[in-house]
Amino acid sequence: MCGIIGYTGPLSATPIVLDGLQKLEYRGYDSAGMAYMNGNGKLSLRKTVGKVKDLRAICDDDEATCGIGHTRWATHGGVSNTNAHPHKVGNIALIHNGIIENYHELVNEYDLAGDLASETDSEVVAALINKLYDGNPNTTIRKVVSLLNGSFAFCILFGDHPGIIYCVRNVSPMVATHCKDGSFIASDLTAFIDFTKRYFIIPEYTIVTVREDGIMMEDLDGKTVEPEYLEVNWDISDAQKDGYPYFMLKEIHEQPDAITRTITPRIVDGLPDFTEDGVPEDFFENVSDITVVACGTAMYAGMVGRTLLQKYLRIPVTVAIASEFRYEEPVLSENSVVIVVSQSGETIDTLEALRLAKKYTKKTLSLVNVKGSSIARESDYVMYTHAGPEIAVASTKAYTVQTSMFYLLTAKLALVQKKKTEEEVRRFIGNLEKVPDLIFDMLGSEEDIERLTKRMLNAKNAFFIGRNLDYTLSMEGALKLKEISYIHAEAYAAGELKHGTIALISEGMPVIAIASQTHVYSKMISNIREVKARGAYVILLSKDEKITDDALCDEHVKLPNIADDFTMFASIVILQMIAYYTAVGKGLNPDQPRNLAKSVTVE
Ligand code: M6R
Repeated sequence: MCGIIGYTGPLSATPIVLDGLQKLEYRGYDSAGMAYMNGNGKLSLRKTVGKVKDLRAICDDDEATCGIGHTRWATHGGVSNTNAHPHKVGNIALIHNGIIENYHELVNEYDLAGDLASETDSEVVAALINKLYDGNPNTTIRKVVSLLNGSFAFCILFGDHPGIIYCVRNVSPMVATHCKDGSFIASDLTAFIDFTKRYFIIPEYTIVTVREDGIMMEDLDGKTVEPEYLEVNWDISDAQKDGYPYFMLKEIHEQPDAITRTITPRIVDGLPDFTEDGVPEDFFENVSDITVVACGTAMYAGMVGRTLLQKYLRIPVTVAIASEFRYEEPVLSENSVVIVVSQSGETIDTLEALRLAKKYTKKTLSLVNVKGSSIARESDYVMYTHAGPEIAVASTKAYTVQTSMFYLLTAKLALVQKKKTEEEVRRFIGNLEKVPDLIFDMLGSEEDIERLTKRMLNAKNAFFIGRNLDYTLSMEGALKLKEISYIHAEAYAAGELKHGTIALISEGMPVIAIASQTHVYSKMISNIREVKARGAYVILLSKDEKITDDALCDEHVKLPNIADDFTMFASIVILQMIAYYTAVGKGLNPDQPRNLAKSVTVE
């Protein structure tokens, strides 16, 4: 939520900040702004409602060597120029990602109301810094930070310290680097990967001084903190559209490679192997139960995991929504495994759920895509997915790499716990290795999918139905459709329809039915007939060669003839494309759906 970038160095700051903001736009895109400083210490501000291109139009010619920029996802206060960042109070300009929970109290206690123009919590911090400023940015920031409750990543310019950016964070992510082109700080490294692949994560509650010739850090006691540099294994071309009209379509097409990168290093001699991840063998022994905790798409990946894990291990597996798990009293013991799933590794509810789980068990494992992120660092064990950067707000390749990790984990646990023989596990892994090719083949049906979404463009509602593994998938399919096409979509366990929901079926309403699970196939077909008989426009995904029965469906998408456990990879690609082509067909930008942001670092 909100993207921030700062640059100081020998190059012109304005294009660097604007280009960086463009790459961070997935984090928020309702307004954008920048503040910059020349050698004379004059602080200038530009901000506007709209996207980075609108900001560019009002500041492309501005000359500066030090600047900070912000792209906003509104939390406190509506979308307006005044509420856009940076906020300038006195000779101080500030940008913020996060939420300050006690901003009301601070306004009253420090009598700040007269200094405020916006409705934001962020401006209160700028006003507080201005009020408490003692001429030394470090001591002032230290004082102010001790007064704040909430999450924050701040970049601050002090007019009397030209060319220097001051930063501090708690929870909200921030990375930095110094290279031959100057010093950079940002919410995520895509903002400056044009310049270097090396970066470090800013530790929480560390005051960072970013200068042209280097970056200094000190903790709240004034002790120097050394940066721990990391290097990414992808480059700028991975974060570009590469000829695709939208990132989402590019990322759908990247799934075969992303899965190959994720599973191949973890398969040794046909068996799952997590040695490289540093997970000891005894992690997989004596597991009494498993809880998967995540949000949104990552949580739906967990639903697939649950179905498999429970089927093969015969132990209780639950999936918890992280924001609920945090406020329940979890039933966990020292033999419970908690699997935390997150693409960004920064989702605040998931991070807090992990912190809670650690109070009960030492067996927390995270499946994370972003190297060195908070969740990755704080869990007992981490297994990185290798999806590469996912830029589109709607998650696609992150979901399939997460689910592929659940297949590997299922195989490993089943083997260690002797629930399956080595031969059975080899067969299971053999099927998993076929998944990238399988997805590649499904991507060939893109034109058909685009055609069959034409009848969905005017729909107000849609249902996704399935049983067993197909039901878990339906939830992700429905989420994809609603978040980018704004069609109200719901997933239902097909057998549950007649207990109320079927009343909502009306003439022409799209129902996407997945029938890939052999043991419930005939029941599923009966459920599909029930909705078809009530006028639904039925798109059926099944392994049948051909369906000619008009009383069953309007459109049929043929799924490959592989073991039932693995058809979900083929089906999900179809559901992703249905969502994508429906959104594009409605003239919407699937990469930046309204009201959303990629990384949810507010509670
Ligand atoms: O970064 P995370 O995986 O923790 O994000 C969790 C959800 O916010 C995310 O999966 C969201 O639901 C998707 N972007 C939806 O497509």
